Amino acid sequence: MAPALDAQEAPNGGESLTPLQVQNNNASHKSKVTIIGSGNWGSVASKLVASNTLRLTSFHDEVRMWVFEETLPSGEKLTDVINRNNENVKYLPGIKLGKNVVADPDLESAVKDADMLVFVTPHQFMEGICKKLVGKIKRDAEAISLVKGMEVKMEGPCMISSLISEQLGISCCVLMGANIANEIAVGKFSEATVGYRDNREVAEKWVQLFNTPYFNVTAVQDVEGVELCGTLKNVVAIAAGFVDGLEMGNNTKAAIMRLGLREMKAFSKLLSPSVKDSTFFESCGVADLITTCLGGRNRKVAEAFARNGGKRSFDELEAEMLQGQKLQGVSTAAEVYEVLSHRGWLELFPLFSTVHEISTGRFPPSAIVEYLGTSN
Ligand SMILES: NC(=O)c1ccc[n+]([C@@H]2O[C@H](COP(=O)([O-])OP(=O)(O)OC[C@H]3O[C@@H](n4cnc5c(N)ncnc54)[C@H](O)[C@@H]3O)[C@@H](O)[C@H]2O)c1
Repeated sequence: MAPALDAQEAPNGGESLTPLQVQNNNASHKSKVTIIGSGNWGSVASKLVASNTLRLTSFHDEVRMWVFEETLPSGEKLTDVINRNNENVKYLPGIKLGKNVVADPDLESAVKDADMLVFVTPHQFMEGICKKLVGKIKRDAEAISLVKGMEVKMEGPCMISSLISEQLGISCCVLMGANIANEIAVGKFSEATVGYRDNREVAEKWVQLFNTPYFNVTAVQDVEGVELCGTLKNVVAIAAGFVDGLEMGNNTKAAIMRLGLREMKAFSKLLSPSVKDSTFFESCGVADLITTCLGGRNRKVAEAFARNGGKRSFDELEAEMLQGQKLQGVSTAAEVYEVLSHRGWLELFPLFSTVHEISTGRFPPSAIVEYLGTSN
């Protein structure tokens, strides 16, 4: 399928450039791409990107991937094993990344001379990573964030794309969607949404870099909407896991998804009035919500939490069930709760606040069902 720019509308009224035109425009300068992150999704993102940099003349073949270095049980360094076997044996075992993916444990050397920076680490590490990158990247580098989550600061909530832009002084798009990494890794079809602010040409370049026959990417002019969808659906997935753990069935799960989508939309619009309704119908919206509430690690660990009657903490279950992978929904629920209580909005968002109250042990998992009984 061909990459598409702006399913929603043609912004700025102009005609979009075809991918080939963009490629020819940039033929004299080949863009270097660095992936910052090498977990489950980071590794799949590297594989997608590496297949395209080999194929498209506007990109350097080599894709560098920054790895948070770990020593494996064998005593070897993860980076050495990735570079020898072309496989991330810890976070994406059994999948070849592409011979043009080069793992580098040194953040500064990984981003040196990079024109395009793909951020894809768990959100809690992003502030530290950005601090280390100040003054180390090209001034005209472009960034994209695949990170789902937000930072809550004294001044209010800060989305990860804003953190990147503010700390590094570069513009930042986002890519979100119904993208369970292990399914894309084996070539099962999925869609994704690139959100951009005002530069259509840059958005088109990101679409080119990620789009494959089994990964269909569309760009929309709504960074905030795309990123808030990707972030907030993890809170709803925790609620979906609770009702699974309580064996409530599919109708209850559907009710959670509907009410969750409603709170996602209301919260997004309160935080950022420019968010477009149509964004909730893109892959980053309803499709990501559905896949995350059906599969995905947040739902899975929340199910185990509810089955145990909330007696084992999320930290303990995460360590036991995810082998180094990180949960996002519980920390995002805490961040959202902080925003809600700070702004006096708690009563407007009963699903989001109930998820936090259950995750922190204040309410039992069954409170999610009691909440449903009072919602409409
Ligand atoms: N996995 C998916 O299916 C999926 C899909 C879409 C989006 N995402 C999002 O992508 C982002 C990255 O997730 P992932 O699945 O690639 O990661 P992951 O949870 O699989 O792996 C955790 C990663 O964090 C690294 N890490 C651990 N401690 C660190 C530290 N102190 N500093 C920096 N890095 C450290 C680990 O080395 C590892 O690479 C998240 O925001 C997630 O929500 C994930």
